[in-house]
Amino acid sequence: MSDIVQTAPRPKIIIATRNFHKTAEIRAMIGAAADVFDVLAFPELPEIEETGRTFLENARLKAIGISREIDGWVLADDSGLEVDVLDGAPGVISSSYGGIEGDHARNCFYLIEKMQGHSQRSARFCCTMVLAKNGEEVAHFFGTVEGHLLDHMSGQGGFGYDPLFVPEGYSESFAELGDEVKNQLSHRARALAQVVIYLRSIGLLK
Ligand code: IMP
Repeated sequence: MSDIVQTAPRPKIIIATRNFHKTAEIRAMIGAAADVFDVLAFPELPEIEETGRTFLENARLKAIGISREIDGWVLADDSGLEVDVLDGAPGVISSSYGGIEGDHARNCFYLIEKMQGHSQRSARFCCTMVLAKNGEEVAHFFGTVEGHLLDHMSGQGGFGYDPLFVPEGYSESFAELGDEVKNQLSHRARALAQVVIYLRSIGLLK
């Protein structure tokens, strides 16, 4: 008799992003339960323009757009920072707020400038995740983390506005707190926790 035990292949989830920080965070949170790739592994996939007015619209565009081109489960996240005193800005334009797409340091300096003279410094990171398959949305999920903004950048970890953002209940920025803490309480962690519950409920994840 053979001792070989057949194990089910691990599910494959494609993350509709070219931001390797996001992929690394999501991979760390999903752990060994699935094989997580991002679209950098599939150079033939189209670049999806984020023309939506909300995080949900943008996440839908990315998840549905990529899942039309590829077999399997696609997860897209759209996220950003909302600052109360700036009426929710930078919001969906978080990644290009300072004028150059993806220039995180410039975005932070621009936000520091915009916040000068404001004592009301509450803000939140928001994340919307959309799960799609065969070109159709299957489900969507939201996560937020409340906090406040520093008037200077502090810390080397993370990305984006992490050096400016102090989550509620802490006195250091996300960039100082490091990945382990951030991955437990971030907007992305909270949205992803719901994704994982959903994928377990349909039997895709153990
Ligand atoms: P997206 O790639 O269109 O979702 O844009 C996300 C942008 O929001 C990033 O480029 C950052 O500026 C900001 N952002 C989203 N999540 C985070 C985070 O966890 N830390 C810091 N900045 C973030």
